[in-house]
Amino acid sequence: MASEAARKVLREFEKNGQSVDAALVTWSPETLRKILTEDLPEAQVIVVSNREPYIHNMKDDGVELVVPASGLVSALEPITRACSGTWIAYGGGTADRQMVDEDDRVQVPPGNPSYTLRRVWLTEEEYQGYYLGFANEGLWPLCHIAFTRPIFRASDWEAYEAVNRKFADTVVAEARNERPIVLVQDYHFALLPRMIRERLPEAIVITFWHIPWPNSEVFSICPWRERILDGLLGSSIIGFHTQFHANNFTESVDRFLESRIERADAAISYGGQTTLVHAYPISIEWPAELLATLPDVDASRTSLRERFGLKADVKLCVGVERLDYTKGILDRFQALEELFIRYPEWVGKLVLLQIAAPSRGTLPAYKQLHDECHRYAEELNQRYGSKGYKPVVMVAEHHSQEQVYEIYRAADICMVTSLHDGMNLVAKEFVAARDDEQGVLMLSTFAGASRELLEALIVNPYDPAMMSEALLQALTMTPEEQRQRMRPMREMVRDNNVYRWAGSMLMDAARLRKRSELDRVTTNAERSANANVDNVVSLVERRRMAAGLR
Ligand code: G6P
Repeated sequence: MASEAARKVLREFEKNGQSVDAALVTWSPETLRKILTEDLPEAQVIVVSNREPYIHNMKDDGVELVVPASGLVSALEPITRACSGTWIAYGGGTADRQMVDEDDRVQVPPGNPSYTLRRVWLTEEEYQGYYLGFANEGLWPLCHIAFTRPIFRASDWEAYEAVNRKFADTVVAEARNERPIVLVQDYHFALLPRMIRERLPEAIVITFWHIPWPNSEVFSICPWRERILDGLLGSSIIGFHTQFHANNFTESVDRFLESRIERADAAISYGGQTTLVHAYPISIEWPAELLATLPDVDASRTSLRERFGLKADVKLCVGVERLDYTKGILDRFQALEELFIRYPEWVGKLVLLQIAAPSRGTLPAYKQLHDECHRYAEELNQRYGSKGYKPVVMVAEHHSQEQVYEIYRAADICMVTSLHDGMNLVAKEFVAARDDEQGVLMLSTFAGASRELLEALIVNPYDPAMMSEALLQALTMTPEEQRQRMRPMREMVRDNNVYRWAGSMLMDAARLRKRSELDRVTTNAERSANANVDNVVSLVERRRMAAGLR
């Protein structure tokens, strides 16, 4: 499975006296860089996503830097750092324009720059149609089983297409040669791979779809389904978090496009080009650079409990996500209520701290969710609260990564109860934060992470009775059992960190490039062999003609 460069990296670990085990687990920025320099020499890595890794916003006291709440950003940021690449994204911050040079570029991370962020500007109309409209009212609900109806408007589709073209122009402008590796991210850019392929035929385009892919029946309701599939098949590789979603994609292609599908090779041939369709489970940075700089578990517990006035005998359960209807926040509140009904002795002994980062807040579905969450939290607090005790603390504000990790460290239980989720990196971050091997993870069976974090308490968020029983199990779990569950989950995230995720895709990309180089050599050889045959034939022809044999 490992490429020559990856094998070399592993051998070097052994030479340096490190165990093979360490070598295998240490998928690091160095491993990635080695694969790039040895297997894909001189390849320029270009990442394209809608969301930028650093947003500059104007505040009364100056420019504020925000790292957005996005699983995509937390995964891609360390990768782009390691590859010293170029990241192209929508510049949505109020001070973004102020911070770029004349080519719309800014070097990041601030303070210790290692890659270029190239910002793309969108008009208000483009933002409405492409981002809020087609991406977030159309594709987002279409791909998640959360029973929110997708809305498709022709004007949104036009804006989506126009913005994809704008990004294609930017990729071409940023490419230093004809053969960059372009990492296209997510459902905002289904048309971009084909647009890049047309302009840079030799580029390696790796597209990663960070959200689920629905079955072909559901997908069929999208009025532009063929165009979306055609756009995506401009990619050299298309990645999903799970095999299940990769299969759904292949089924959709099978149903709506004239193509040849080689199931054994996970390859689709369409329009004279082959695309690999694979599962690459995304992950997080390990070891997370940030963790080393943060207070340990005890200090985090003390400061958080003081901040929220939690008594010593109160257990802390946390939920951390964007305020999104796919995340099952209301279902979590319902589980808490169910627990209080079934086991009233827990009233007064448990607090749910819900961090909900504002997201897509101008869309009606999100406004409604915001109001419902606040209303339900208030109801629970009135019904079960008392002086100095509120069972639900809802903080609908953006939190920095530092603050989020502090919350993970302080928690007794982390609830990840998504109704549907490609992967869910909160689950992996919680595990990474718990170097004390304590804390219980409750994890939805409908999050991709449940395929990997098998020792979590796996729950069905649609079943409040089951969730309340799982909560009770979490609340009463012995420290020893917590350790027995947490340890293998930590090993799992450590071994399958985000460098491995990117490394596997790059290794597949390197194989593709080698194969296409071989194909080129073979085709050239065939061409000259054919030319020789032609020459011979025409010579024979000439002789025949000269001999009057025609
Ligand atoms: C999901 C999507 C990402 C997106 C993130 C935050 O994780 O897969 O592409 O960046 O949500 O959403 P937002 O709309 O704020 O970028």
